[in-house]
Amino acid sequence: MVPVSVYLNGEFLPLDQARVPVMDRGFLFGDGVYEVIPVYSRRPFRLAEHLSRLQGSLNGIRLANPHTSEQWTALIGRIVELGDTDDQSVLLQISRGPMAVRNHAFPKVVTPTVFIMGEPLVTPAAELREQGIGAVSAADFRWLHCDLKATSLLANCLLRQMAIDAGCVETLLFRDGYLSEGAASNIFMIKDGTLLAPPKSHLMLTGITYDVVLELAALHGLPHEVRDLRDEEVRQADELWMTSSTKEVLPIVSLDGRPVGTGKPGAEFARMFGWYQDFKQRVMRGN
Ligand code: PDD
Repeated sequence: MVPVSVYLNGEFLPLDQARVPVMDRGFLFGDGVYEVIPVYSRRPFRLAEHLSRLQGSLNGIRLANPHTSEQWTALIGRIVELGDTDDQSVLLQISRGPMAVRNHAFPKVVTPTVFIMGEPLVTPAAELREQGIGAVSAADFRWLHCDLKATSLLANCLLRQMAIDAGCVETLLFRDGYLSEGAASNIFMIKDGTLLAPPKSHLMLTGITYDVVLELAALHGLPHEVRDLRDEEVRQADELWMTSSTKEVLPIVSLDGRPVGTGKPGAEFARMFGWYQDFKQRVMRGN
């Protein structure tokens, strides 16, 4: 479905009328940052956290924030209002804008390109959740600023495509023998009843969903530990999960063609999924 309206540099207009100059640094260099914010019942989920991560990404690429939190909230609110569905996925992207001549160095005067688009939020179908998904693994060949949500996503795209080519959904990334994250998700494992997750660092994006899952584990008394996870440990996990704003929490039942645990979604996944839905219902839908 084509979004009714998008926001581009001060204007609300139909998607097919939104135009960015070819000299935009976002197009030529992937020089920009973004956020993907899930919206439930027309309420953006954890907006303050997304805006704070956005600020961190902007600081990391040395680009001034073009808007205050209040302005972002109003712009996103308007896009959500204009959308057809109550549940949406809002993409917000800021590039370092157009340049007069192609030059890697920043322009002296930067006019950022600001783009916001709402799309219907399509969370995974119940069957996918009940069957679980397949994953493959690969060496994490990305750069050393994976904590920044940068629009230069070529490595992530190549890594995700490896999973698709193998008939799977996600690629687990290992750097120097340790789990970092998925190509477009964070990864959790269960071993002997304990939830394990890699620590926040420059080698992974701190997912907003990652934080929610750890908070829910703490709230419901699920033992959990945040520490470096070795490749061999991950391959012997009882359960593996992937998390992201659009996929929420999904069970991984095979890794590189071998079953994870019993090869079926695990009991701890079922509990976490329930807590997540319940949290969404209470916090976002107000009942
Ligand atoms: N991606 N790690 C990477 C590399 C990601 O791209 C994402 C999400 C996450 C999870 O973050 P969060 O829980 O805040 O969605 C982790 C989004 C959804 C995307 O690029 O479309």
